[in-house]
Amino acid sequence: MTMHTRTLGTTGPHVSALGLGCMGMSGMYGESDAAESIATIHAALEAGVTLLDTGDFYGMGHNELLIGRALRTAPAALRENALLSVKFGALRDPDGGWSGFDGRPAAVKNFAAYSLQRLGVDHIDVYRPSRLDPDVPIEETVGAIAELVEKGWVRHIGLSEVGADTIRRAAATAPIADLQIEYSLISRGPEREILPTLRELGIAVTAYGVLSRGLISGHLTGSRQFATNDFRAHSPRFQGENLQHNLTLVESLRKIAEQKDVTVAQIAIAWVLSRGEDIVPLVGARTRERLGEALGALDVTLDAADLAAIEDAVPADAVAGERYAAEQMAMLDSER
Ligand SMILES: NC(=O)c1ccc[n+]([C@@H]2O[C@H](COP(=O)([O-])OP(=O)(O)OC[C@H]3O[C@@H](n4cnc5c(N)ncnc54)[C@H](OP(=O)(O)O)[C@@H]3O)[C@@H](O)[C@H]2O)c1
Repeated sequence: MTMHTRTLGTTGPHVSALGLGCMGMSGMYGESDAAESIATIHAALEAGVTLLDTGDFYGMGHNELLIGRALRTAPAALRENALLSVKFGALRDPDGGWSGFDGRPAAVKNFAAYSLQRLGVDHIDVYRPSRLDPDVPIEETVGAIAELVEKGWVRHIGLSEVGADTIRRAAATAPIADLQIEYSLISRGPEREILPTLRELGIAVTAYGVLSRGLISGHLTGSRQFATNDFRAHSPRFQGENLQHNLTLVESLRKIAEQKDVTVAQIAIAWVLSRGEDIVPLVGARTRERLGEALGALDVTLDAADLAAIEDAVPADAVAGERYAAEQMAMLDSER
């Protein structure tokens, strides 16, 4: 395994070609084990992964505290290599419910102050609103982050799940390093308008859901039951006939993986890596075993024949079901 690096846009940092998404370590996909989560973060840093992605609302601060602990207990040389990408803005309640977004400048600075404390760091490498606040012009939200950049609390500005118009307005306000957006073999929406806009403006992509939250990992079976607080219990792609259909796509992919002597997850991650040097997949591994599998994707080479076979097995519009339930889809500026 060789750790390649990529650059987050024309103004952003050099990061490992694969990033570690830490959300699943704080309850979004059911229970996880804190000791194994920390061991996974350490193993990722040891393997050369430098980009760690989190959100202040993942487990209502739990995820940032966990990353803070992992950084404090990592060897100094590895800790210094870590780059933190942090999302803010999603509002929670004590029951774990979601109650909107806040992108007002005063709120941005307040969120950042708490994140710095929980993470135990003196700056955040990439700071981004998790969604567009429909009541606050993006210029104001990005302008507030730009002030944090000026003061040294934040190094770079990112965006998440916003569409082409918002990307242009944000980029006219301050330099933007990357857009975080769901992008995978079965979530190809960004190819229409968002990717060309980003490329025109020199902004990179940190892609999430590259395994579609485990759906196209090759490990999920049709009989898996999800707890009610697991995102997948409510995701259209994991329900009934949609799930059965989507798992047939995975079986087609498995044939290609077997021919290449790699796993389904590795093919799915390698496909995203193959879409451009400006795309950095974030993998949601929360165990060392899953991390090891994901890292193996860096050594998978897909030639033109492989890519054609993959497109054939999983055509761009083959998936059944939207990527979020209707209420959450309505919050996505990227889907307008
Ligand atoms: N900006 C946004 O709106 C947004 C939204 C969602 C996520 N994100 C970020 O993106 C990161 C990645 O997203 P995600 O967790 O949905 O992505 P993902 O990598 O598509 O899905 C992770 C799921 O895949 C399963 N999996 C199976 N094999 C795996 C392997 N080899 N490596 C990794 N996972 C494997 C894991 O299940 P098991 O652990 O059960 O095996 C886990 O439930 C998140 O952690 C978060 O930081 C951002």
